[in-house]
Amino acid sequence: MHRQFRASVVEAVKLTEEICSVGLKADDIGASAVPGQFLHIRCGDANLLRRPISISDIRDGMMTIVFQVRGEGTKWLADRRAGDVLDVLGPLGNGFDLGGKNIILVGGGIGVPPMLFSARAAAGRATALLGFRDKSCVILNDAFKSFCQNVIIATDDGSCGVQGPVTLPLKKLLETGEYDAVLACGPRSMLRAVTELCIQATVPCQVSMEERMGCGIGACLVCACRTIKDGREEMRHVCKDGPVFPASEVVW
Ligand SMILES: Cc1cc2nc3c(=O)[nH]c(=O)nc-3n(C[C@H](O)[C@H](O)[C@H](O)COP(=O)(O)OP(=O)(O)OC[C@H]3O[C@@H](n4cnc5c(N)ncnc54)[C@H](O)[C@@H]3O)c2cc1C
Ligand code: FES
Repeated sequence: MHRQFRASVVEAVKLTEEICSVGLKADDIGASAVPGQFLHIRCGDANLLRRPISISDIRDGMMTIVFQVRGEGTKWLADRRAGDVLDVLGPLGNGFDLGGKNIILVGGGIGVPPMLFSARAAAGRATALLGFRDKSCVILNDAFKSFCQNVIIATDDGSCGVQGPVTLPLKKLLETGEYDAVLACGPRSMLRAVTELCIQATVPCQVSMEERMGCGIGACLVCACRTIKDGREEMRHVCKDGPVFPASEVVW
């Protein structure tokens, strides 16, 4: 169950030129949050609408969000410092089903941080495939290594790890027949390609979808996502019915 609360900033760290990590005091909210859920954060008086940011991790009473500065809201968030207090709604959304003996976590770009919480929850059962533009964009590699049996980095230019999209190593892993679930977060084009590979390999796949948001609680219809279930098309809310959907139900 979500609620509105005030969260103290415990730490604020710059991970790259554009990406920041902010740790919030988790309190009891941290105990109820599950991997894949997000927080809807008020970003200053000038921004009427809250901004949705996924929970990247929870540990030692601290809930971490990792975000890329895109516009006014995330710029305001990036300027927060330890001791500041945020107005937060959450935890929101449904989260990933982490069942399975051997699972693959796929993250692309700013879709990497939300998979860390899943890696922690599925420690010892997960392989992580993390895709970035180039070496300078690689984040959280060591954190994933502490939970995953194997962490494979892919970069567009080959400056770190495998050269090319994460779908290259994903295809190889799926061909081994050793995996029974794939969980993914990242750009829509990546999620679509991951979905196609999983359908071919008959491995169930869940994807975390992104849409612009208003209320964050299913009341305004801003975040509609086209899905298909039992042969019938249906518009569903990313904020309430998602953000995680079975990949086979998303109309790409
Ligand atoms: C469920 C969910 C979880 C998210 N988790 C994260 C996260 O963990 N880390 C992170 O960096 N970002 C995350 N995002 C995206 C983040 O919410 C947007 O980048 C942010 O709201 C932009 O706000 P802004 O005021 O800085 O930029 P704005 O001025 O509002 O927009 C700047 C640019 O970003 C684009 N944009 C804005 N909102 C979205 C959106 N929801 N999806 C795609 N593009 C958008 C705009 O079209 C525009 O081009 C998430 C989005 C959703 C829906
Ligand atoms: S953001 Fe309002 S219904 Fe999803």
